[in-house]
Amino acid sequence: RIEKIRAREILDSRGNPTVEVDVRTSCGFGRASVPSGASTGTNEALELRDKEDRYGGKGVLDAVDNVATTIESELLGMDVRNQREIDGLMLALDGTDNKMELGANAILGVSMAVAKAAADSLNMPLYRYLGGVNAYTLPVPTMNVINGGKHAGNDLSIQEFMIQPKGADTYSEALRMGVETYHALGKVLKSKYGASALNVGYEGGYAPPLEMTADALDALVHAIEEAGYTESEITLGLDAAASEFFDGQNYSIDGKLLTPGEMIDYYLELIETYPIILIEDPFHEESFEDFATLTTEAWETIIVGDDLFVTNVSRLAKGIEMCAGNALLLKVNQIGTISEALDAANMAVRNGYSVVVSHRSAETEDATIADIAVALTADLIKTGAPARSDRTAKYNQLLRIEEDLGEAARYMQL
Ligand code: PGA
Ligand code: ZN
Repeated sequence: RIEKIRAREILDSRGNPTVEVDVRTSCGFGRASVPSGASTGTNEALELRDKEDRYGGKGVLDAVDNVATTIESELLGMDVRNQREIDGLMLALDGTDNKMELGANAILGVSMAVAKAAADSLNMPLYRYLGGVNAYTLPVPTMNVINGGKHAGNDLSIQEFMIQPKGADTYSEALRMGVETYHALGKVLKSKYGASALNVGYEGGYAPPLEMTADALDALVHAIEEAGYTESEITLGLDAAASEFFDGQNYSIDGKLLTPGEMIDYYLELIETYPIILIEDPFHEESFEDFATLTTEAWETIIVGDDLFVTNVSRLAKGIEMCAGNALLLKVNQIGTISEALDAANMAVRNGYSVVVSHRSAETEDATIADIAVALTADLIKTGAPARSDRTAKYNQLLRIEEDLGEAARYMQL
């Protein structure tokens, strides 16, 4: 039973305040902290920020206060194993559609810490508590090794260029293949564009001074080769985050303005030319129809909805109805509770959609999403480059889970 809930303001990887919550029961303890996006979707749950000047207006003391004054008193004495009841109670206390009253950051911090306290009180790892006996498969990491868009100071329109070490037998082998390719990429970029190309963006990927999508993809293909792998062992993925370069009519990319129809041809050509198996947010966040067209035409490609679905079951239901995309990006802070995020994942799986569990561009040392990915048997986990502690915290937690599973561990085959 919950004896104490304590929230505090800590820092995220961009140096901005975020919420951390401790939940203490008679026999368990859970601590969780909340991530934050830069290219956030319009339909995400609201991250409450103070209106004062401190931290440039990004303080979260109001959210912290909401945990202390409103949430704690209601939750005291409740059984932490009743995740759904606790999440439901917080939703009712908030009373809004987008959690603007208490703040999705306040609610999520408590929701995650409750899950961790429950697992701890049962003396179980979190992935096992959330996933049960069916949780034994490690997801394929999709590692963001070149950063562009809003995540870097270069002119690439595409926000993320990712690699998937899918030709591995185990997760730890996959991680090593990804790391070797990341370092090979560093050498390729340095020799071609100079040492400043090794500067990194928000998610630890290199941020070379490039503008053309093809230049980034060529460097990746070169790096895969230099690392000694084939294009079927290490494949490529993009997160266009296209809302960020859409002006209401056209997409601004590679120094050109392309119509939605031209963007479809653009992606089809990229898929023809490069070993691309995944494209996230290829169009802006309301373009369900263009998503559906691309999903049909590029039927072998994983088409992921991030800003499109915002981990929200009603938006996902609309997407399923229209066959828009074939994969859900699952970001717990887009929706604000563990229960609702699990609902979205279940809806995705029941309808034949893949699940990609994801970090945000600002993260903390919290590695809860690694456990969630294994609990859900997610196809992929997207948590940045295999560098910078905020990103490696998750990759490292997956190593621990693999060790904990021992012989029972499997690596997801896409
Ligand atoms: P964000 O970006 O966390 O800045 O929103 C991540 C993504 O678009 O997938
Ligand atoms: Zn995205």
